[in-house]
Amino acid sequence: MVRGEESQAYNVELENVTLLSMLHHVKTKMDPTLTYSHGCRSGVCGSCAVRVNGREQLMCEYKPSDGDVIEPIRNARVIRDLVVDTSSIAYFNSCANAWSEGSREGCVSEEEASRIETQTDCILCGSCYSACPVYAVNPEFIGPFALTRVWRYVNDVREERSDGKMAAVQTNGIWDCTLCGACVPVCPQGIAPMQDIRMLRTKSAMLGYPDPTMNFGGGFDLGGWDF
Ligand code: FES
Repeated sequence: MVRGEESQAYNVELENVTLLSMLHHVKTKMDPTLTYSHGCRSGVCGSCAVRVNGREQLMCEYKPSDGDVIEPIRNARVIRDLVVDTSSIAYFNSCANAWSEGSREGCVSEEEASRIETQTDCILCGSCYSACPVYAVNPEFIGPFALTRVWRYVNDVREERSDGKMAAVQTNGIWDCTLCGACVPVCPQGIAPMQDIRMLRTKSAMLGYPDPTMNFGGGFDLGGWDF
């Protein structure tokens, strides 16, 4: 396990238990200073995300193996051991207005509800933020989680005010994503933020927002073709 700048190894004789149970064993029997975060113990609250061998996992769901390396999630300040400062998640949500700003009364059809069902299942664990490589070059990137939430509200027929959300994601948002897909396999809820970002790009084009990734104004040479 990585603790700050150093690593610490623990030998635990437990089988077929979750990583969270194993850490609880370490804390109660071996090292009371070990610090980690958890809540529901059942994959609902999203507070126990860590990296195992370089891949984001929920501690309450992952079954550890010999030699596993446990680290805090990335792109967030480490407070202690496996606990990180999650205030950036609220910050990026506020940058994108990634919440309901007014909801119409009325019935929602099954088909309309199914359009936002997957994104609504987000448990705010931060795994997609941790996996995103864009933060290495742009710490202000609104990021996969908040952009998925924007798509959820823009796509909700009850939402009254989605114009501000679409405007908010044009800078440090949908066009800064590299569409690498690193956020997709790490989501414990099966959400695909990259796909939602693609949908936001399409909707932006339909609304008349310029696509900066199509700006060849500087001119360059591509295999003999002049631009
Ligand atoms: Fe709640 Fe793991 S403890 S998701």
